[in-house]
Amino acid sequence: MKIGFGCDHAAVELKTILMDHLKERGFECVDYGAGPGEKVDYPVKGLAVAEAIARGEVDKGVLLCGTGVGISLSANKVPGIRAAVCSEPYTAKLTVEHNNANIIAMGARVVGSELAIMIVDAFFDAEFQGGRHANRIAMISDIEKKYSREA
Ligand code: RB5
Repeated sequence: MKIGFGCDHAAVELKTILMDHLKERGFECVDYGAGPGEKVDYPVKGLAVAEAIARGEVDKGVLLCGTGVGISLSANKVPGIRAAVCSEPYTAKLTVEHNNANIIAMGARVVGSELAIMIVDAFFDAEFQGGRHANRIAMISDIEKKYSREA
């Protein structure tokens, strides 16, 4: 699996830690920035990773900012993106199993690096369960279509 990483200036260090960890686990990781010392508004990186997923350049994403909220809100504006902010592993597992989330978002000012590693592991070890959950994902897509300017 290919994973895209994005963060703002609040989370560069955590991004490096998580990329190194997931590379060690055998995942291919693509870094969409920000780099060290760079000041970047979170919507820029939320969009970059979300569009990379939408284009099929990467399969899933990890987005990080101070809280994980701003960057996930930005990514969720791209059709087909389901970005979930998580600060513990249980939600990270369930958001894949039930919501088929394709992005995990976290706050570098909320979770420490050890907990963040447990959260990404729970996310990438989980599998979408389909069935009744697939119907609900289709309902989310219907909402997107209803409000899409391109529809
Ligand atoms: C940047 O200071 C901060 O606002 C941002 O990282 C994030 O927490 C927003 O949701």
